Amino acid sequence: MMKNKWWQEAVVYQVYPRSFQDTDGDGMGDIPGIIQRLPYLKKLGIDVIWLSPVYKSPNADNGYDISDYQAIQPAFGSMADIKKLFKAAHELNLKIMMDLVVNHTSDEHAWFQQSRQSKDNPYRDFYIWRDPVDGHEPNNWASDFGGRAWAFDEQTGQYYLHIFSKKQPDLNWENPKLRQAIYDMMNWWLEQGVDGFRMDVINLISKDMQFPDDPSVDFGKHSSSMEMVANGPRVHEFLREMNEKVLSQADIITVGETPGVTPADAIKYTGFDAHELQMVFQFEHTVIDDSKDGLGKWSDERFDLVDLKRVLSKWQVALDGKAWNSLYWNNHDRPRVVSRFGDERPAYRELSAKMLATVLHFMQGTPYIYQGEEIGMTNIAYDDINEYQDIDTLNAYQDLVVNQKIVSPEKMMTYVYHSSRDNARTPMQWDTSTQAGFTTGKPWLNINKNYPQINVANAVDDSNSIFYYYQRLIKLRHELSIMTTGHYELLAADDADVYIYKRTTADEELLVIANFTDKKLQREFDLPVGSTRVISNYVDDTGHTLRPYEAKVYRYDK
Ligand code: GLC
Repeated sequence: MMKNKWWQEAVVYQVYPRSFQDTDGDGMGDIPGIIQRLPYLKKLGIDVIWLSPVYKSPNADNGYDISDYQAIQPAFGSMADIKKLFKAAHELNLKIMMDLVVNHTSDEHAWFQQSRQSKDNPYRDFYIWRDPVDGHEPNNWASDFGGRAWAFDEQTGQYYLHIFSKKQPDLNWENPKLRQAIYDMMNWWLEQGVDGFRMDVINLISKDMQFPDDPSVDFGKHSSSMEMVANGPRVHEFLREMNEKVLSQADIITVGETPGVTPADAIKYTGFDAHELQMVFQFEHTVIDDSKDGLGKWSDERFDLVDLKRVLSKWQVALDGKAWNSLYWNNHDRPRVVSRFGDERPAYRELSAKMLATVLHFMQGTPYIYQGEEIGMTNIAYDDINEYQDIDTLNAYQDLVVNQKIVSPEKMMTYVYHSSRDNARTPMQWDTSTQAGFTTGKPWLNINKNYPQINVANAVDDSNSIFYYYQRLIKLRHELSIMTTGHYELLAADDADVYIYKRTTADEELLVIANFTDKKLQREFDLPVGSTRVISNYVDDTGHTLRPYEAKVYRYDK
């Protein structure tokens, strides 16, 4: 057996800096705030912090539109602050992984400002420009944030491509100069002390330069050409080059965000001998409750456990021994897991949050925790659409309700409550003081009103809290090597209420059992003599009777 790499035994915690901790009263989180909270993260026990973008940005998409890769967003702090963060984290033996957004920049990036000047500008080919075809867009591609993926620029009479908002022009990876500029920038960050990269929509960087139409586009609904553009013709060539020139030069952690990948694709990106990335974020389990009416994530469907098990198990089995899974329930783009796959009612919130954590953390792969997940933060439901800030949510509302009139305002709000990215972006709930201890000013996005009950101070005071349960799971991952290496096997695949799986090595096994309902259920499973229960969200053990949202894990020798 190959020796595990450090990042295979690590647990990652995602910080969304805007919403984590404000220290200067401007209502927006900042880097000094992250430094202030490092002891909290250390107490939780995580190994790596993934920072969503902190670079300079006009914030059309909360920092995923970067105007300078080598400068810090002034509201977040300075270059000196980020270096202080690296140093303070390293002193605590924590690593920092930066978000890297190189499929596109902001239209306010100096490269784009140059590029749009003239057709012969040296930066022209840093982006993707095309002539109009019959006075229209070069093809029918749809932006992931609604509308078309091409914007016309009067100055030179051409269109530029933007898979996201028109303030996020796509970079032209066909251009070797652009690629070298990106690698230089990445190497510069490594010199500053960064320990890894999470690469935003990295499987979109190679486009089919013939620009064929996307057969799936339907502007009458809410289309996106993202998946059509994904896994393009030269993507592996580009990533191998990046690996050779940057990633292989240091012992870092890398994870690529890759919409639309299958396990076979993932093995191409992350196979142990692929020389590209270490892990990808796949999306299959996050789309199982998508709209049945072709509206993508704009839906209010409840998920089906059999589907969830099928998808997660497929990934566990397909990558075993070949590549490495990332394990996540939620992030800054997805609803809160306890609201989505658990039960946020007061009687069940803590139980179901612990149950979900158990199911994820015992799988093979590197677990990612999204800020606030460890205290069971829930989705948000603002009364008024105008309270939302997320460009994706506001565009979809405009598109489906105002322009197309295919969804009523009331129905759309149920979709927003279910799927909006702002569900995960409400500020971190630290304590019971005004604005939940997040800021002394007015928060950029309104705090969830449940903060007097759900907050870090309460969690840290209660030895039975979700926080301490996560702490135990993380500690177990560092202690029980079977959690890292064991093979995965799904049992009772058709059981619509209970998730049971095994992890197996040559000499031991783990049996993970999780009740996804608020009912008491009876289930048959074999427990060899000498089994010990390593963790559970209930104190006592009632054997084959599973109480509401009960989760338990047994260990035994084979
Ligand atoms: C990724 C990010 C998301 C962003 C998009 C465009 O999906 O996670 O937040 O809006 O890429 O950069």
